[in-house]
Amino acid sequence: MTYLQKLASDTAQHFLKTYGRSPRWIVAAPGRVNVIGEHTDYNDGFVLPTAIERYAVMAADKAPGTAIQIRDVSGVEPAVIDLSAPVKPGTPKWSNYPRGVIAGMLERGMTPGGLDVLLNSTVPLGGGLSSSASLEVCTATLIEAVTGRTLVPVEKALLCQKAEHEFAGVPCGIMDQFISVMGRQNNLLLLDCRSRETQLVPMNDPAVSLLIANSNVKHELANGEYARRRAQCETAAKILGVSSLRDASPEALENARGRMDDVVFRRARHVIGEIERTIHAAEGIRASNWPAVGQLMYASHRSLRDDYEVSCKELDAMVEIAEQIGIKGGVFGCRMTGGGFGGCTVALVQTEVIESISEQLAAAYKKKTGIEATIFTTRPAAGATIVKGQGSPSGSPGAPIAPAGRAGQNSFATLEALDREYNGRPTSGRPANSERRCGRHRVAARQGLRYPRSYSKAASGQ
Ligand code: GLA
Repeated sequence: MTYLQKLASDTAQHFLKTYGRSPRWIVAAPGRVNVIGEHTDYNDGFVLPTAIERYAVMAADKAPGTAIQIRDVSGVEPAVIDLSAPVKPGTPKWSNYPRGVIAGMLERGMTPGGLDVLLNSTVPLGGGLSSSASLEVCTATLIEAVTGRTLVPVEKALLCQKAEHEFAGVPCGIMDQFISVMGRQNNLLLLDCRSRETQLVPMNDPAVSLLIANSNVKHELANGEYARRRAQCETAAKILGVSSLRDASPEALENARGRMDDVVFRRARHVIGEIERTIHAAEGIRASNWPAVGQLMYASHRSLRDDYEVSCKELDAMVEIAEQIGIKGGVFGCRMTGGGFGGCTVALVQTEVIESISEQLAAAYKKKTGIEATIFTTRPAAGATIVKGQGSPSGSPGAPIAPAGRAGQNSFATLEALDREYNGRPTSGRPANSERRCGRHRVAARQGLRYPRSYSKAASGQ
């Protein structure tokens, strides 16, 4: 059983307990980890993320009336979104993500009617792994499932991004929503944020893995720093006479140094360098040149720390520890990932020593900071999917990108089998997952929380 199947099954059980009946639909949207290309998306640059095996899942059924009620398994204040009046930002605060998406879907004539919804997310909140984008994309996928109408993937991602801008007040780029919609198993996605073209970058060498370490320092993008960075980039582009930093060269920046203040100069230096590093990293991954990719990751981290100033001492500590373990110990490279100011690091490591690396990272991090890290590994996962219920695809047939409801994970039959299996043997709380305190990787692996090779191959159709 895959991690997602187990999570979906548990969510179905919770739905039954909460609403007294079985859900008609179950949908899921993944979080993401960005391997490289940070703070480049809103500069028209490149990013190289992958969807991860952590999901926002919603189970739902029709309800009388015109309200969508969303309860969360953690018991936080539920969201009630009334469709009989224009949908506006409101409370609780977290409801603004689904609110913004629902408003966008209604504008397109996609009217789901009253719904009872149960949300169950295993994407860590404030961990820089796109918990908000996964919630937005999950909501959009639910409305697609309920209405039986689907958006093309790019439109769906942009609708979710707009929800984040207008309802959550975060002027984010397009990376998080795109990868949550378009992720593909065993692949990273090289996304050109200007043309919005995507290229799959296969990452299916079993000898190499991504290791994510949550510093457990919460990041908060809405606090103004993100918007400030964005404005500084726009200032730099203006001074350089280009429409975005994508069009600026390192030489042009150097020549303009005297015409901009030092902070703006360093912000631009990060972005221009990071766009180049991202393209080189994609080439390195295609060539399985892991040491070269690792060096680019370290360079990215230094640039984010010194020039872009979005790291923090805990993230720096984690990267330093990884660097000390080094290639000899199985670490090719490591960097902070996501918006910054806390959250996670991502490391490229040798699979066969992943447990020992995790243990060393956790122990040294605890010693340096006093904080327990949460460390887990993931295979590149598929994007949003309709697990149960109406399953028409969200992209044009044959589109290169995985649409919602794509066969392979749209496992209505499988889920029914799971329901049978779990009947009389209900699981409690969230599914066992591999996001455990370090040192328990063996346990996680035994619980089948990483896709066995055979499954990954079969499911990705490759
Ligand atoms: C956040 C935003 C993204 C991107 C990253 C930084 O995750 O949502 O659009 O800008 O920060 O790379």
